[in-house]
Amino acid sequence: QLSSKLLKVLFNYYIKGDGNNRLTPYGGYRTTWWTTSPRLRDDLQEICIKMGKSANFQLVKKKNETIKKIRGRVIKQEHPIWVSNLIIKSNTPSVYLHRNRRDNPNTKNREEWIDSHRGMVYCVEVPNHIVYVRRNGKAVWSGNSGTTGDVAKKLGRKCVMTDIKPVRKDIIRGDACFCYPPHNVQLVILHPPYWDIIKYSKDRNDLCNAETLEDYLRMFRKVIDNVTPFLDDGRFLALVIGDKYSKGEWIPLGFLTMNEVIKAGYILKSIIVKNMIGNERGKGIANNLWRYRALKDGFCVFKHEYVIVFQKKNVGLPLEKPKVFPRMLGKCQRHFP
Ligand SMILES: C[S@@+](CC[C@H](N)C(=O)[O-])C[C@H]1O[C@@H](n2cnc3c(N)ncnc32)[C@H](O)[C@@H]1O
Repeated sequence: QLSSKLLKVLFNYYIKGDGNNRLTPYGGYRTTWWTTSPRLRDDLQEICIKMGKSANFQLVKKKNETIKKIRGRVIKQEHPIWVSNLIIKSNTPSVYLHRNRRDNPNTKNREEWIDSHRGMVYCVEVPNHIVYVRRNGKAVWSGNSGTTGDVAKKLGRKCVMTDIKPVRKDIIRGDACFCYPPHNVQLVILHPPYWDIIKYSKDRNDLCNAETLEDYLRMFRKVIDNVTPFLDDGRFLALVIGDKYSKGEWIPLGFLTMNEVIKAGYILKSIIVKNMIGNERGKGIANNLWRYRALKDGFCVFKHEYVIVFQKKNVGLPLEKPKVFPRMLGKCQRHFP
């Protein structure tokens, strides 16, 4: 909850009280702390990453490990002991990458590689798209946005990504109701909020802040009407969307938004039903909770969302582009410099 500045103060005083700053042979300092508490170890690691640094830890004494013998009596370690080090350098872009150590010529750079993955890939989604992940004692911030753009890049396709609240530098800030690409495109992929299930921002133009279902559909339709003139005739629009339920009522956002696209003059080509169980597990929502909610409110357990594919009718003539009023132009130029 504290700001990075206050966390630094807290951390510095913790180290003064129960850690140490040792001079290294290279003239710098090494900040180290020891603890028997996994909770304290993990919390301090989290504080370090929130300070813009990172920390690793190592088990130095196992539980029941013999420490020494005093007059024949075996002294054993009652609790495991962990030692943690603050990492000041090498925090970006790769963390925990082992460099050749000057004091140990046998150490080698740890290899990094990109591999193709076969099998399921789950995408956790959180409102600010930044997830704190810890595996095998290594903690990192992990971004989860812009997946479509990453795939496009991998396939060597040009793509423009926009979001009203972007979380990556390669995503352009823009309200999809107004901003448009610098030139015509051949595929549009829309992944709007599923109305108000997740609050992505407080922006009143964010679709998640639509007060009523009618408002949500009206805003969604505005997005379609805005992008349509820039999609080449005969080309495709894919909509990724899921339903929602509220107060015991199933709200078929998938079909309602699908109708809006059809009303805007598109031909429906496919309704792909996508298994989303993994997504929900990624969000930390246990399957049992979904099951409980479904049974409590009297509907089937949600296990799917949709990818709905449309084709823009081939009208033969280029559609007239929307008139850009000076005030709006300023807004768009800011979106697409
Ligand atoms: C379901 S999420 C899409 C997540 C995306 N596929 C990803 O991997 O990060 C919906 C996104 O729509 C964005 N959004 C909501 N209203 C918008 C608007 N009017 N213009 C542009 N983006 C909007 C939200 O900020 C949110 O990031």
